[in-house]
Amino acid sequence: MISYSAYKVAHISCFVYLMVSVFSICILQMNALYEGQRRKNLLRLHGFASAFVLVSGFGLLARLGMTHGLPTWIYFKLAAWVFFSMSPALIKKTISPKPVLGSVLFLFPFMAFLAIYKPF
Ligand code: HEM
Repeated sequence: MISYSAYKVAHISCFVYLMVSVFSICILQMNALYEGQRRKNLLRLHGFASAFVLVSGFGLLARLGMTHGLPTWIYFKLAAWVFFSMSPALIKKTISPKPVLGSVLFLFPFMAFLAIYKPF
């Protein structure tokens, strides 16, 4: 059985990878360097990290015994996860990656706050 600590190690590593990949995609796009092999590698890292953040998040919930009726803060995390998972597509479709970059800087500490304080 996968332990709470193992899920936490996976969660922390993968959300760092997720933030780093979104951040890098934004910076490269702003400098017209988001293309070719560089783009493929970043998309692979992003996909892997995004999938494992979700799996480890639900693993943590299971180990915390929160299986029946999720607390409200989890819905905020799920919304942020959807946003970060869609961000490469958003960056490609929208004119500027700046709002996505800004939301990485704002949403990351907010996610940490939600998980640690569990305010609602
Ligand atoms: C958007 C990406 C996400 C980020 C940046 C993020 C960030 C964090 C952080 C900073 C922590 C605290 C780690 C610690 O205690 O040291 C945490 C814990 C946690 N996260 Fe996430 N998270 C994300 C997505 C998710 C998702 C999608 C779920 C649920 C499906 C989830 C569920 C949890 C749970 C259950 C904990 C453990 C809380 C505890 O140990 O008391 N997270 N997350």
